[in-house]
Amino acid sequence: MTVENLMDKLVSHCKANGFMFQSSEIYGGLNGFWDYGPLGVELKRNIKEAWWKDMYQSHNELACPPSAPSTYDMVGLDCTIIMHPQVWKCSGHYDLFHDFMVDCRKTKKRYRFDQLRGRWVSQGPQRIFVTTMAEPEQEQEDIARRALKFFNLRSKDIERLTFEERVLTFDKLDESDRAKVLGPDTEEIGTLTDPREFNLMFKTYVGALSGEEGAAFLRPETAQGIFVNFKNVVDSTRIRVPFGVAQVGKSFRNEITPRNFTFRSREFEQMEIEFFCHPSQSANWYQYWRNRRLQWYKDLGLDSDRLRLREHDHDELSHYSCGTADIEYAFPFLPPGEYGELEGIAHRGDFDLRSHSEGKLDPKKRPLEVELDEQGNPKHRGSGKDLTYRDDLTNERFIPHVIEPSAGVDRLILALISNAFQETTSTDDKGKSETRTVMKFHPRVAPVKVGIFPLLKNKPELVAKAREVFQTLRGQMMCFYDDAGAIGRRYARQDEAGTPFCVTIDFDTLGEKPELLNTVTVRHRDDGKQERIPIAELQGWLLARVR
Ligand code: GAP
Repeated sequence: MTVENLMDKLVSHCKANGFMFQSSEIYGGLNGFWDYGPLGVELKRNIKEAWWKDMYQSHNELACPPSAPSTYDMVGLDCTIIMHPQVWKCSGHYDLFHDFMVDCRKTKKRYRFDQLRGRWVSQGPQRIFVTTMAEPEQEQEDIARRALKFFNLRSKDIERLTFEERVLTFDKLDESDRAKVLGPDTEEIGTLTDPREFNLMFKTYVGALSGEEGAAFLRPETAQGIFVNFKNVVDSTRIRVPFGVAQVGKSFRNEITPRNFTFRSREFEQMEIEFFCHPSQSANWYQYWRNRRLQWYKDLGLDSDRLRLREHDHDELSHYSCGTADIEYAFPFLPPGEYGELEGIAHRGDFDLRSHSEGKLDPKKRPLEVELDEQGNPKHRGSGKDLTYRDDLTNERFIPHVIEPSAGVDRLILALISNAFQETTSTDDKGKSETRTVMKFHPRVAPVKVGIFPLLKNKPELVAKAREVFQTLRGQMMCFYDDAGAIGRRYARQDEAGTPFCVTIDFDTLGEKPELLNTVTVRHRDDGKQERIPIAELQGWLLARVR
């Protein structure tokens, strides 16, 4: 199956089964925004709940987890999306959270400078750089087609063109070569502007003030809410370093080119921990969180051979970071061998707490110093509040270092959906073949945990018993009652939703075989195997497998 085929199938499966819909679809949709349907919302809740439970609620502060440097505390937080504008000035987002983009003067389209890919193509003495926004598999075809058109040639003349081997991004070209560039949607060269900065934060206005006075931003990350509440958390909980603060919530980025389904969206959710520790221990905690978080994805059912941990090169590091590793997944929209980021684990040092206290630090200076304006004053003033921590046992006062595991809910959903999606084709005795989709979700994240069916819908005793079983289970886990159509069809519908277990109430349940009285058939999604379970044990049996 080609990359496009698989992605098209995933997108249409998600729509047809109510996992995800394009936002405002009836008005033509809004690029970069996605809604979660009835199944998608359950999948999303299960993921967030699994993270919240595993990272925070079931954390045992009295026991040292395997390979952790010591015991530690965890607490939770839920901060606002709109915060004081100074937060983003001190965090660095106001000055530095931008992408470079280029505009096409002809078509008015906008592209990310570092995403515009292309190749040098020559015919005789003329050499041009042909760019494309096509997916990797169609890139060469698109470049060839547009080069032929530019040089006024037909397909059969392709031999007259010389294609240079390397695919380059626009940002790698010399400035002097920009006039030779053919934009992705034009037929003439030299229409692309020089790159310009484009801040990714969404701007809004608070209250009745419409000018710059009332300007505020939708948060581009949940992290800053935790930093600016550091003192509140320490003062209100008697918590001691090392400790982590967990938060799950929406973030917004005005991405220039949202793409690849939900991978790069403009509105998305993050699950972030800011872990505060003593500077002398931060390297060890960084290692701990990298390994712990990678294992979490494996435990949630992502294939190990599609996951990897990649340490950032120095020039890739964010403005605040003194070390970052990404947990990456081989998403199906990427060519073989390429991976996309699921989560970043960053060693942020003391950048954030110091910036919010002293004023925005200059990320280029080592050691970090407050960035000054032309008059020698802090470029962006901090809160002036003391964000140091005093260890009450040693009396040492210090600014904690921060390790930040930052995960994207929507990217994880996309990874889980891609990972779960399986098609099987079977042929019946009449030679008719049927392709069926099974979503092999880990039971813990599966939107519906159990389907409950009476074998026949026109037998009141079967229906009454099935309803009774449904009533006892429904408050405990997501159940789906279905009495429509043949039993095989009902199994297939639950397979498409990714339901790990189906329970059928049949005549043996009613005592046709006395030894099977009050037992049901449980069918397993992944191998189709069936077993008989007493109704009295069913709830415990299921809960042990779906939590
Ligand atoms: N506080 C650090 C931070 O926000 P990031 O690497 O920019 O770091 C963390 O984002 C995670 O948020 C990413 O690994 C990804 O899963 C998710 N994420 C970031 N931008 C996203 C986008 N435009 N659409 C969907 N998810 C995104």
